[in-house]
Amino acid sequence: MTRKLLVTSALPYANGSIHLGHLVEYIQTDIWVRFQKMQGHTVHYVCADDTHGTPIMLRAEKEGITPEALIEKVHAEHSQDFAEFLVQFDNYYSTNSEENRQLSGNIYRALKANGKIATKTIEQYFDPVKNMFLPDRFIKGECPKCHAKDQYGDNCEVCGTTYSPTELINPFSAVSGATPVRKETEHYFFKLSECADFLRDWTRSGTLQAEAANKMSEWVGEAGENKLSDWDISRDAPYFGFEIPDAPGKYFYVWLDAPIGYMASFKNLCAKADIDFDEYWKKDSTTELYHFIGKDILYFHALFWPATLEYSGHRTPTQVFAHGFLTVNGEKMSKSRGTFITARSYLEHVKNPEYLRYYYAAKLNGSMEDIDLNLEDFVARVNSDLVGKYINIASRTAGFVAKKFDNKLIDAQHAVIDEMRAAVPAIAEAYAARDFARALREIMKLTDAANAYVAEAAPWVVAKDDSKAAELHTICSNALEMFRLLTIYLKPVLPNIAVAVEAFLNVQPLQWSDVGQGLGAQTIQPYNHMVTRLEGKQIEAMVEANKDSLQAASTPAKTESAAKTSAKSEAKADTPAVEEGAYISIDDFTKVDLRIAHIVSAEHVEGAEKLLKLLLDIGEEKPRQVFAGIKSAYDPATLVGRLTVMVANLAPRKMKFGMSEGMVLAASDERGGPYILSPDSGAQAGMRVK
Ligand code: 2FM
Ligand code: ZN
Repeated sequence: MTRKLLVTSALPYANGSIHLGHLVEYIQTDIWVRFQKMQGHTVHYVCADDTHGTPIMLRAEKEGITPEALIEKVHAEHSQDFAEFLVQFDNYYSTNSEENRQLSGNIYRALKANGKIATKTIEQYFDPVKNMFLPDRFIKGECPKCHAKDQYGDNCEVCGTTYSPTELINPFSAVSGATPVRKETEHYFFKLSECADFLRDWTRSGTLQAEAANKMSEWVGEAGENKLSDWDISRDAPYFGFEIPDAPGKYFYVWLDAPIGYMASFKNLCAKADIDFDEYWKKDSTTELYHFIGKDILYFHALFWPATLEYSGHRTPTQVFAHGFLTVNGEKMSKSRGTFITARSYLEHVKNPEYLRYYYAAKLNGSMEDIDLNLEDFVARVNSDLVGKYINIASRTAGFVAKKFDNKLIDAQHAVIDEMRAAVPAIAEAYAARDFARALREIMKLTDAANAYVAEAAPWVVAKDDSKAAELHTICSNALEMFRLLTIYLKPVLPNIAVAVEAFLNVQPLQWSDVGQGLGAQTIQPYNHMVTRLEGKQIEAMVEANKDSLQAASTPAKTESAAKTSAKSEAKADTPAVEEGAYISIDDFTKVDLRIAHIVSAEHVEGAEKLLKLLLDIGEEKPRQVFAGIKSAYDPATLVGRLTVMVANLAPRKMKFGMSEGMVLAASDERGGPYILSPDSGAQAGMRVK
């Protein structure tokens, strides 16, 4: 049966470049879509730039251009990056479109007619200099809990507490520096609290991965628990977005119209390609709807979005597929280490996008686990699997076919070919389940079998004996049939190589159904080498080019955000940079007495949610007692005996659980943490860090 699938990837914000972290998702989706298309299904893959919100408005202002000009420029860059990574959208649109304005307005009106919209007067911080209400991420101040300075309005990066911006001590606007004032304003809310029963059912109907469904159960709670709050869907002018119908000066919050942007992009495609929009979005549609997303935006796609669709009279998603984040060399992407790599920079240095597609595919298993791009392993794997194994089958046999048989093949037949055909269901099943790692393991097993066949048959030896021409012809024809089958299996991952192979073998674009029919007595084209080896020095140059030493020296880790935001924040690239000129002098820095500390003991603190109690030896008579907010990330037993870094001259603080005589340094941002620091070997307890 031909299935009809509508597939989306998350819409990237229109104020930042595409980087290797983003590409995990687009490559993952693209491989899946290409696989489904090769099955003969009808598949539409749509995406768009996510263009609305305060960060984009302010960024345009900073660049001295209109938001429209900014999003147009970024749209061109994003489109180019995706095309060069062979991410083949059927439509790549913008949320700032007429279709989206219409659809957002219609959905809002339907929700309202269904009694799902309420208004409420709330109090929010307002910047009296900029004359605007401030999103949480644009307010900074002192943490109400640990008193760390310069913390964002939604959570403290030092102690990890989450709070509302009104709790910050000495708040200031990150836009103008002014002290914000609290001001009342009327906001529009979507009554999510009334959707719990629906969401509970939707979550349990196979729409989510098990890990995601568990998270949802936590958020939604059991029947009668009432854990969901209503969702604030409006923002006050000035705001770059859509004005709410019949509510002058009130705009839809960016996260309201962003997922509707999936529909709008599809609507735009429908008009161009004569597709029936309603067939895909009406209630009880028999078509399938799949959203690929990062795990950080599950909240929006598994709560707000299905509820919005359900109560506005639409179908709900068939499945939402969440993936994990990307680490590079086992760590978060970092500008100072040169591992925050943009798509453009990869293309400039490594050039071939299929290396990365292959490597990501080999790591992606359909779960929400993070995946690691280990740069050394990347080089080794690409060279070994693609060049050394796969392409090798053709490069070792094609020459003989040209030289001795006028480029003509004969019927192929061999046990390895039978084995390859028999593996089709397992490979297809793995692709469909987004377990590309398993699919590639199967395929590489077959590639090994093909290479073993060629090695044993040794065509280069047989070729020396003219009386064995028939045998040579059989070996090469068999090997190239194996190569063709492997190409079909690898085509979702390596679409460009597949095109080159199709030209070489002189065949129509390969489909999954071509597995059954062999090449037969085909005349092929002369062989040209299809993949070159990846050199370690290309990677070194790329990392070097991405090192941002100025950035590393002058801004805190949080501005290095790998662009994955917590579910609460508005826009990941919206983290305001530290104000220019906000440097400290060396004297300021040396006021902070940083010491190497030996962790003598670590234990849980009864009744404390986030804290561990540490005893730290810094070469003084008696170890210091410090309470550190690192419980979420560390088992105390693993800390004992480690060296780390502490602030030794922080005024002792009386806490609920006892005195804290210093502070342990730890790194964190919305991507995770806290991670405490470790000195290089040789450092001793008590040494000064400066
Ligand atoms: O997190 C993000 O990058 C958002 N721009 C994703 C939006 S996806 C969809 F809902 F629009
Ligand atoms: Zn704090």
